[in-house]
This record gives sequence, C-alpha cells and structure tokens, in this order.
Amino acid sequence: MSRDEIYRQSQSFLDDFGFGESVATVFDDMLERSVPFYAELQRMIAEMAGDFAMPHTRIYDFGCSTGTTLIGLDQAIGPRGLTLVGVDNSQEMLAKCRAKMAGHAFANAVELTRADLNQGVVMENASLALMILTLQFVRPLYRDRLVRAIHDGLEENGALVLVEKVLGESSLFNRSFIKYYYEFKKRNGYTELEIAQKREALENVLVPYKLAENLEMLESAGFRYVDVFFKWYNFVGIVAVK
Ligand SMILES: C[S@@+](CC[C@H](N)C(=O)[O-])C[C@H]1O[C@@H](n2cnc3c(N)ncnc32)[C@H](O)[C@@H]1O
Repeated sequence: MSRDEIYRQSQSFLDDFGFGESVATVFDDMLERSVPFYAELQRMIAEMAGDFAMPHTRIYDFGCSTGTTLIGLDQAIGPRGLTLVGVDNSQEMLAKCRAKMAGHAFANAVELTRADLNQGVVMENASLALMILTLQFVRPLYRDRLVRAIHDGLEENGALVLVEKVLGESSLFNRSFIKYYYEFKKRNGYTELEIAQKREALENVLVPYKLAENLEMLESAGFRYVDVFFKWYNFVGIVAVK
C-alpha cells in the first residue's frame, strides 16, 4: 500500500482536494490513517449488510472509491445471487477499484458505474445502499434530493448505511472534537503541516452537517427507522430503514 504523503511538503498554492490519480494511488493508506476505527466501521457495515442484503437484489455503494466496502461485504456474506454495484465519479478511483477487485474471487456479481451523485441516482431492485464518507462531498444544494432519491430507489424494508464526518452540535464541542481528531491524525504519523494543508484543501469541498441535521434529512426523506450505530467525536455512522 503506497503511503499518503500528498501534503508532506509545504505547498505555496493549494488546489482544492479532489479524487484524481495522486489521491487514488495512496487512498487506502489515507483512509486507514485518517478515519478513526476505519477497519471496524467496514466490519460493522459488512455485518449489517448481512441482515439487509436480500437474495437476488442489488446493493449500491455510492462513492465506492477503491472497493474496500464491496470486497469486505462480499467476503462476509458469501453467495446470495446479489449484484454489487459500485458507483463513483472518479475514473482514477474506479480504475484502482477494478484492479483491487481483480485480486478477489467474488461470490456475487459486481458492476462498476461512473456517475455524478449531484445529478441523482439510478437504482433498481435495491435492498441496501451504502454511502460511506461520500454524502459530505455532495453539494448541499443536492443532498436532500439525493437522499430522497435513494429512499425512493430502495425496496420496502431496504436500508441505507451512511457514514459521515459531522459538526459538533455546539461550537464548543465542535472545536474540541476537531482538536481530538487532529491528535488522532498525529498519532497516525501526519505532521502539523500535513494536517493544516489538507484541512485547507478540503475547505468548501467536504461540507459536514451536524448529526441532528443528517437524522432530520433521513427522516424527512421518508425513512421509518433511523439510528446511530457508530460515533467517535466528529464521525458518525447511521443506519436508516425504509
Ligand atoms: C471519502 S471517499 C469514500 C470512501 C469509501 N466509501 C470507503 O469507505 O472506502 C469519497 C468518494 O466519493 C466519490 N465522490 C465524491 N463526490 C462524488 C460525486 N459527486 N459523485 C460520485 N462520486 C463522488 C469520490 O471520488 C471518492 O471516491
């Protein structure tokens, strides 16, 4: 796995963060060192998928990146005649995903699609949708519409599993959660400069909502049951059932 050193050197001009070749190349290392409990989150998602993935339906992973979630899920739940659909708008991510998936013998069918989630989604016969650290990159203007489209695209009793970075409910906790998060990144080998430059590059690209705002968005989209299955300072995992 290539090490993430994208923001190691001081950069006089910082481009907005994007999911091109340089990020795709180091992405797995970036997530392991930047997302608290990333491996446990993936295990929990696969565990929940085991309960929601109805045989002979389709499972959508919106923002599939390098395919970590779909690979883990397939291994955890085994053959069910499913079609696992990975959706991402980054060609470079999808290329890495294809290469990584080639190293796995899938028990279910797999499809990869390039699409922009700002434009909505196409879903059929879906028992489960996943959006892991991806809704936060969808333009706020389109988020409600997208979540509603995912709800409408799911079969009855189908589920959406959402993982997001969130704002604290008050500015007091927001500040301390961010401080603890940067301490976590330092423990994982990122320097102050790397953390500061990445934060600046992500500004206006990753737009987090509060947990309460995410819950309200899911409820108003029509999900009948909504609950938090994971919370670590400014990271949250939510499961919602139609
Ligand atoms: C933080 S990564 C997701 C990580 C991945 N789900 C995982 O658990 O390993 C966000 C992904 O969403 C994709 N993405 C961002 N904006 C998008 C959009 N508007 N449409 C489709 N994909 C998008 C990016 O290309 C990237 O691969």
